[in-house]
This record gives sequence, C-alpha cells and structure tokens, in this order.
Amino acid sequence: MEQQLRQLSKDAQTEISQATCVENLQEVRVKYLGKKGSLTVLLRGLGNLSKEMRPKMGQVVNEIRSELEGALNEKTSELKASELKNRLAKEKIDISLPGRKVPSGHLHPLSLTLNRIKDIFMKLGFQVAEGPEVEQDYYNFEMLNFPKDHPARDMQDSFYITENILLRTHTSPVQARTLQAHEPNSPVRIIAPGKVYRSDYDATHSPMFQQVEGLVVDKGIRFSDLKGTLELFLHEIFGSSVAVRFRPSFFPFTEPSAEVDISCVMCGGKGCRVCSGTGWLEILGSGMVHPNVLTLNNYDPQAVSGFAFGMGVERIAMLSYGIDDMRLFFENDVRFLQQY
Ligand code: DAH
Repeated sequence: MEQQLRQLSKDAQTEISQATCVENLQEVRVKYLGKKGSLTVLLRGLGNLSKEMRPKMGQVVNEIRSELEGALNEKTSELKASELKNRLAKEKIDISLPGRKVPSGHLHPLSLTLNRIKDIFMKLGFQVAEGPEVEQDYYNFEMLNFPKDHPARDMQDSFYITENILLRTHTSPVQARTLQAHEPNSPVRIIAPGKVYRSDYDATHSPMFQQVEGLVVDKGIRFSDLKGTLELFLHEIFGSSVAVRFRPSFFPFTEPSAEVDISCVMCGGKGCRVCSGTGWLEILGSGMVHPNVLTLNNYDPQAVSGFAFGMGVERIAMLSYGIDDMRLFFENDVRFLQQY
C-alpha cells in the first residue's frame, strides 16, 4: 500500500508541475484531495488494514496530503504571479497621461470689486451693516429727509409693492436703520453694501444693481474727514495718479452735498468717449449728514456730526476693468466672466 501511495504522490506532483493555469490546478486538487479524490479514497481504505499497519499508513497519507497541499499552493501563487505579469505586459495603460482637471469657477467680477471695496473700508475701521431689499417708504425716503411728494423722490423711479413698501432704491435707508439701532449720539462707522432697484434699463443702468453706502457719525466729524476718506479710497481703487474733485450737488439727506469725480481712467483726463470729452468721471455721491436726518433718527445735531457717501459697484467695476456695457455682468456668459 505504501508503494501505491508513493506512486500516487509522484503522479500528483508531476501533474502539479505541468499545470499551465490556475484552473488546471483546481482540477488536480479535486482529483487527489477532493471528496472522491484518490488520496481520500485510500485514506478511507485504512480501516481494512491491520491494527499495527493503520497508524503507520495513516502517517504516510497525512504526510503526502500536506506535501501535495503545499505543492498546490506554491504552484497556484506561481501561476497567478506569471498570469499577472503577462497581463501587465500586454495591457499598455499609459499612467503618465495627465489627469483631466475638473474646471473650477471663480468669483464674479462684481464680487471681486465689492471685496476690494470692503477690504479698503475695513482697514479704515468700518464695520459692515445690512438692511432689507424690500424696504419701507419710512426708511427709504422719510427718515432720510425726503418729505412725501418731494420732487427728489422722482430721481429714483421705484418698484412699489404697496403704497408704503417698495424695493429699496438705494442703500441709504441703512443709514436710518443703523442710527436708530444705536444709542443716541453714539459713534457709528459703517459701510452698507447691497442690491438696490430702480426702473431703468440701458447700457449703463440695470433695474437691479449694487451700491455701497458709507456713514460716519461722531463728535467733531468735518468735511475734511469726508474728503480724506474718499480720496484715500479712490486712490486705493484706481491708483494714486487719479485726480479727485468734489462738486457741489444736492441730496435731501446731506448738507452740504458733493458729487465726487475722478480724472478719466481711460484717457487720463484728456477727454474721450467714456468721459464724454470732459476728462472727468462721476463716481459717487456724498455729503455731511443733514441735521434733519440726525434729528429724525434720535441723534442730536448739536452734539455730533457726520458724513455719508454712496457709490455704485457696477460703475466702479466697469471703470476698473474697462467694461462698457453693464448688462454683461448679468448675462452669465462664461466667455465674459472667464476674463476676470
Ligand atoms: N443714495 C444716493 C443715490 O442712490 C447716493 C448717495 C449720495 C448716498 C450721497 C449718500 C450720500 O450716502 O451722502 O443716488
């Protein structure tokens, strides 16, 4: 019987070494070690042997079994490795090909401009205040010294929701809201960025646009503070070579009021199409806070004074990037937006 076992082992080893694929090996495993495999059958036959022979033969069978298992496992890994090697040799994946980038967006030119404006004022110690876009006539006009039926209301053609509620026509109502939210006569230094609405539509007017309001109130605030602050701001935005000029103007909520111009950034002041030949560009409105506005909002004009200003974000963006049609900002054409 031992003879028979040795022969079987030898045959199995030969078959293992000749196997050419993992499937072959599986067949060999079943043939010898499976439930009906030759070795298994012999093992069952041990029962017929004499008591003395049984343990010896049992030991031989187990030895052969573990030898074959070892050989099968070894050959399996060998075949798997060489199969992998063959596959890798055949499959030519060029791992040096660069990956495809997921295109990433960036901030809108108006957001970039607004961020620049905010940064400058925040360095000067201004805080950012906000107010609602659907506003009461009370804050939008009345608390800013626009009496009912005052002709200055006609300067701002508004969208009304009811007689007393409208889409705010400017960010100036945040002035009234801020003063009322403060302890009377306590200092205020805020900018108020946000969307405003007017019924206008052409290359330089959009029914929705953005403004940044500014308000400073404290003891002893003078016109020179207004001038210095706005000059510094305009030089930061447009470069220190632009000239800044203050022109008398009128707003119901400031006295005196001034329109602020800069020398034309397109032609340097010589006169061109953009500045209509004047060499100057109107850039923002400003003035000393009207005593009536202080009184209406619980501040005492005898105790404190202030200045205010308001600018259009689109206009500043158009001038700093050289864009000649405001509608481009709102069309969402990526060929336009990609340039900023
Ligand atoms: N609210 C004005 C407008 O939209 C702009 C303005 C002018 C704001 C003078 C001010 C200011 O704060 O002092 O036309």
